[in-house]
Amino acid sequence: MNEKRIYVNTFGCQQNEADSETLTGIAQTRGFIPTEKIEEADLILFNTCAVREHAELKALSTTGQLKHLKEKNKALKIGLCGCMVQQEHRKEDIKNKYPYVDFVFGTNQLSRFGEILDQALAAKKRLFFVEDYAVNPGTICEGLPVKRKYAHRAYVSVMYGCNNFCTYCIVPYVRGRERSREPQCIYNEVKGLVENGCREITLLGQNVNSYGKDLETPFPFSELLEMLDGIEGDFVLKFMTSHPKDASFELIDTIAKCKHVEHHFHLPMQAGSDSILKAMNRRYTAERYFELVDYMKKKIPDIAITTDIIVGFPGETEEDFEKTLDALRHCRFDGVFSFIYSPRKGTPAAEMDCRVPDEVTRSRMSRLLELQMQIQTENNEKLVGKTLRALCEGESKNDPDYLSARSDSGKLIHFPKPEKEIQTGEIVTLRVTEARAIMLIGEIAV
Ligand code: 5AD
Ligand code: SF4
Repeated sequence: MNEKRIYVNTFGCQQNEADSETLTGIAQTRGFIPTEKIEEADLILFNTCAVREHAELKALSTTGQLKHLKEKNKALKIGLCGCMVQQEHRKEDIKNKYPYVDFVFGTNQLSRFGEILDQALAAKKRLFFVEDYAVNPGTICEGLPVKRKYAHRAYVSVMYGCNNFCTYCIVPYVRGRERSREPQCIYNEVKGLVENGCREITLLGQNVNSYGKDLETPFPFSELLEMLDGIEGDFVLKFMTSHPKDASFELIDTIAKCKHVEHHFHLPMQAGSDSILKAMNRRYTAERYFELVDYMKKKIPDIAITTDIIVGFPGETEEDFEKTLDALRHCRFDGVFSFIYSPRKGTPAAEMDCRVPDEVTRSRMSRLLELQMQIQTENNEKLVGKTLRALCEGESKNDPDYLSARSDSGKLIHFPKPEKEIQTGEIVTLRVTEARAIMLIGEIAV
């Protein structure tokens, strides 16, 4: 039998990764087998991102490369979905400038993908399924098929969308309002994964701290964590992303109590200056942020805290930026994802005057990275000699004699392959022997 193959390319965040697993699962019910080789695909799907201009340009230029594949194989079907195409102006770009794209569908059409695919395969003309969230709020559909990429780790969405409208961010426009899944559905999914040997489960949402507020019977995120922590088995529970305005001391107490929840908190700060935080509509102050960080460190001494920072937000002065550096010195993060501000069409910040010149932003960015590398090295040096529990992720990308593992606090550890073979997904205990800024070197401890 002539098997049909699907190639999926995912841009952007973990939510998109999770969505792609559902899209692949649905395509499988239509007889498609996933492939890693784009040239042998009968169906190519790009799940795009819109969070920064760079992500969009990457998705568009990669789409441009599909032209020659379509010329070679006229039967090839090409589909685009995800956050980028949820924007009207990008949908029009695809319509007008990428005639070899056969179908496009938005983020609120995910559960309809089976039907969309059937139509696209049969259609002689191009199809566009993009509806504004005001028209189609994107209801939650349970029980969709999922083709998971890994057996040992999995993403589980607990909610979709975002209500916060930070002034720089496109997500509320392209992912709609917050919609939470019922706790029992999440519980059943996580339990099933653990029973099937999954060792690392990451709960996903744009703002997990406001999970459950929209349910008929509200159910706080800390209770969800506690409920999932009760599941028997050897597994680590992760979650992302949090918003400092909604992260509570109670949630930190819960994490301290739980036995499966990893000692890692990703808490995007974005900026250290109160006036910039206000202009970003973040609705917390640097002081409130520090209180959360200080409490986490007090309650959970081995916690690793990571953050996101935007450099060069409109109106950011040298004094504002210094406050961000001071905040890094105060919080001593274990990882910082730093981004140059990227104006997003339709967001309030894109209309703000006083853009920071590129060369100023670039120089601030390198000052930030230099400081953070120094802090991370110092943090990691404190771990030398300590033993950490970690999940083996397979062979190290840089050295075939080494394996890589991720500690319960999210640290990457490389260690020499021991004589006894260790499987990907196995939990190991490692002694840290050396520290670098972005990773640790270790050895098997027992
Ligand atoms: N420009 C730069 N960075 C952004 N982020 C979100 N929107 C933008 C933007 N317009 C960053 C934030 C967020 C992370 C996922 O991406 O730091 O936390
Ligand atoms: Fe990209 Fe943000 Fe959408 Fe994720 S939620 S796919 S990062 S725009």
